[in-house]
Amino acid sequence: MLVNAKYELQSFDAAEALLRQPEDAGHPRTLVVFVGRDLAMGERAASVLKDAAGHLSRAAAAAKFKGKSGTSLEILAAPGAPASRVILMGVGAGDETGGEGGEAKPFEDFFALGGQTAAKMGPGSRAVVLFDLPEGVSAAHDSVGQFALGGWLRAYKFDHYKTKKKDEAEREGPTEVVVALADPDSHSAAMSDGGHLAEAVILARTLVNEPANVLTPPEFARRASELMKLGVEVEVLDEKAMSELGMRALLGVGQGSEAGIRLVVLRWSGGAEGAAPLAFVGKGVVFDSGGISIKPAASMEDMKGDMAGAAAVTGAMYAIAARKAKANVVGVLGLVENMPDGKAQRPGDIVKSMSGQTIEIVNTDAEGRLVLADALTYVIEHHKPAAVIDLATLTGAILVALGQEYGGLFSNNDELADRLTKAGNHIGEKLWRMPMGPAYDKLIDSKFADMKNTGGRHAGSITAAHFLQRFVGKTPWAHLDIAGTGMGSPLSDTNQSWGAGWGVRLLDRLVRDYYEG
Ligand code: BES
Ligand code: MN
Ligand code: ZN
Repeated sequence: MLVNAKYELQSFDAAEALLRQPEDAGHPRTLVVFVGRDLAMGERAASVLKDAAGHLSRAAAAAKFKGKSGTSLEILAAPGAPASRVILMGVGAGDETGGEGGEAKPFEDFFALGGQTAAKMGPGSRAVVLFDLPEGVSAAHDSVGQFALGGWLRAYKFDHYKTKKKDEAEREGPTEVVVALADPDSHSAAMSDGGHLAEAVILARTLVNEPANVLTPPEFARRASELMKLGVEVEVLDEKAMSELGMRALLGVGQGSEAGIRLVVLRWSGGAEGAAPLAFVGKGVVFDSGGISIKPAASMEDMKGDMAGAAAVTGAMYAIAARKAKANVVGVLGLVENMPDGKAQRPGDIVKSMSGQTIEIVNTDAEGRLVLADALTYVIEHHKPAAVIDLATLTGAILVALGQEYGGLFSNNDELADRLTKAGNHIGEKLWRMPMGPAYDKLIDSKFADMKNTGGRHAGSITAAHFLQRFVGKTPWAHLDIAGTGMGSPLSDTNQSWGAGWGVRLLDRLVRDYYEG
């Protein structure tokens, strides 16, 4: 595991035996139980805490804690409790969600609850989580895996470059969490699934967080190549190979940088032989200075995250391969650095893309679409995908429209758009579909070439999508503009990192729900 926390499944009986043993003095024990409305507990939890019941209900009353979902209560040194810390995690429906006859609604968000619980347990904890739900609260089959996933993701921290690591986790040793269940064996698949997803999201987060002096296009390609260990076929094209394919749009973006240019193709063939794959394409601009149309200095450092699309695709390919998904999926990463230099491309330049269409560069800062244009052409010509989805931190305008709550969704196919929206709602990476149409498309016609690379200030995210659409032909296609969600992520129960790895769980869910079996 990449994170310093071990989750272990055990039976209730084994956990109870453990709780009867005296606590290790250096590591006071934490006991976590789920409580519903008015402190209702499952039978096993109630029996483990029966000698402390009076104290717990007094503490709860004093703290006005009622077991509502999203709330929790920590009680220290409760007389009669088998742990120095008892944490009551609310899973009860508040009045606003109460169902028929006062019965609680099934509890859905074990992912967030796992994150909250991990935050409460703290680094270095020795914890027992009694996965025993109060009556009326039910859970999905993957709830334990989701709970652990939330915990792992909460614990992730990018502190690689801090030389004075005051990291508590390091001093306290790993967090050890025993998750106790009636039938641990029936949850072990969900647990290992959660572990793989955690690794996949963490891989994407680290790629986003890495600075561009370390994560150059060749270094990104090297890290993506490690997916070979999972059985992914990896192909890396360098400048020469791309030049032979005529990828002048993509190559033009990188020509002002010394860092090198790469196109990475990741192929997972877990589905029927010969069946058309699903394709993911990621914008991987490892740093976007704007080029000759240089950006203002304020916050320019954030542009090390302009490869969040490529990071999400890499993470998703990891998840899909790690669980040996029964689907054919190909991921393409367009990796470049956008820098100003004597060799850099200029506004006014005209380039010919791999598709044969010509592009007038009117703003060198609208570089992502140039990278994607050739990457899309490549994957459509070489892999004939059933559908293609690109992810890109493409426009500041999508932040103006949607903020950091939703990713922008653009598509030429209602079914694909619908599937993506549903998958996103399912796991909490939400998408909002944006309009497209011929009037917008006209805005990128050029006086000198087939098209220009920006359509002006109005509807900037939409004209960017139209630019991409000119390279996909009839292939069902969706474009996710993740400039708002891919970096600078708001902190949450399950994410404390600048790069949240947004999109990994979304693409993984999409494949699970619609492209397997
Ligand atoms: N990488 C940026 C978009 C971006 C902005 C991502 C803020 C994350 C946060 C992209 O390459 C860009 O510079 N877009 C321009 C397009 C414009 C020149 C048409 C923009 O949004 O200003
Ligand atoms: Mn740019
Ligand atoms: Zn960019």
